[in-house]
Amino acid sequence: MNKIRVLLIASLLSGSLAQAQTKRIFSESAAAKEQRMAWWTNDRFGMFIHWGIYSMAARHEWVKHNEHMTNEEYQKYFNFFNPDEFDPTTWAKQAKAAGMKYAVLTTKHHDGFCLFDSKFTDYKATNTPAHRDLVREYVNAFRAQGLKVGFYYSLLDWHHPDYTMDDVHPLTQTDTSQANYDKLNKGRDMRKYRQYLRDQITELLTNYGKIDVLWLDWTWGKESKRGKHAEDWGAVELIKLVKKLQPGILVNNRLGLDDYEDGGDFVTPEQVSTAELAKYRGKTWETCQTFSGSWGYYRDENTWKTDHQLLDLLITSTANGGNLILNVGPTARGEFDYRAKNALDSLSYWMHANSRAIYNCTYAPDEYKVPENTRLTYNKATRRLYVHLMEYPEGHTLVLPGYKDKIKYVQFLHDASEIKSKSEGDDVTLFLPERKPTIAIPVIEIILK
Ligand code: GLC
Repeated sequence: MNKIRVLLIASLLSGSLAQAQTKRIFSESAAAKEQRMAWWTNDRFGMFIHWGIYSMAARHEWVKHNEHMTNEEYQKYFNFFNPDEFDPTTWAKQAKAAGMKYAVLTTKHHDGFCLFDSKFTDYKATNTPAHRDLVREYVNAFRAQGLKVGFYYSLLDWHHPDYTMDDVHPLTQTDTSQANYDKLNKGRDMRKYRQYLRDQITELLTNYGKIDVLWLDWTWGKESKRGKHAEDWGAVELIKLVKKLQPGILVNNRLGLDDYEDGGDFVTPEQVSTAELAKYRGKTWETCQTFSGSWGYYRDENTWKTDHQLLDLLITSTANGGNLILNVGPTARGEFDYRAKNALDSLSYWMHANSRAIYNCTYAPDEYKVPENTRLTYNKATRRLYVHLMEYPEGHTLVLPGYKDKIKYVQFLHDASEIKSKSEGDDVTLFLPERKPTIAIPVIEIILK
């Protein structure tokens, strides 16, 4: 990863952990917010989909930036984009089988290409050989499968003629001089671009029925003239527009409105390790993660997370009271490649057996100590505690420290088979089968008193 990306990610993370602010844009009460977000906090698990003409380059969705391409050089992807295998019903079924309850699709990424039919640009799927509004098909298919539907929309736009230069724009990468900025900015007008943002957001939030999530991306460089700031987007007006058009919608925190308590509904730690997730407890958060190192389809990228790592992310997110949105980068033909399919299949297998330890769950109250090499999730309504065996205990016994008099019944979750136990002092010892069940991370369900 290059230096600038590291800096950008660091700025996103620090932004998300900024001090609680008292300024407000809306007058919604905490209880009303909790109610509006209840489906999302209960569902815990979503699918991110990064798809666009960069999928053809198949070497990162930032390819235009990484390779400093001009609009002309990038145009070939537009001219030949023809996703002949695109079948969003298959995508939706794959997401649903993996236990994902909502999805967020890139309607426009930083390259400015729109998967939807917008009146305000020609740079859209309907003008490529695809000839269709791909967003509409996604919305219909995912909704029909009972999934909640979200839109990702890039605030950046490396194609729009009014979008001004900044330190990540593809055209500023080789010549960072002010003279180059001035030359390139001639005739560009962010006021017009702000109107374009409002117009497209209006289209997305009026033409496709109820939209559950809007994922806006992103704002950076608070201290720098070469970043983009809330004022560049007209962020306050924009979020007001969003909530006016879709009062029930959830909006992420990347508009740069960190000075406001309600400048976003949830924070978005990106590609963080499981060890870091604990510090988000008490906030409303969703970690976004890739299967491999890239969001867009990347043919030759081979650092794919293992099935165990993916499960760890899901479990550890729930165990710290947050959501996981896991990304798939479909190919330019419109399919999930075999590596993504395999990963989703393994999640499906685990979720079929163990989703009860994820949905409607959060971290356990402090009185329940975390046994060695496990994570705890907890369903408040059913008073069930879930012990995730991250490593199968040696000697096949597990000590639950201080659990005496807290337990009614114990079983494996995947097959509801009884687990015998014995109290010793304040602790309870569980007697597990000698052989680890054929579940990557087995879960013990404790029915609490
Ligand atoms: C970053 C990247 C982008 C990706 C997003 C997902 O901000 O710019 O490529 O879409 O994160 O979280």
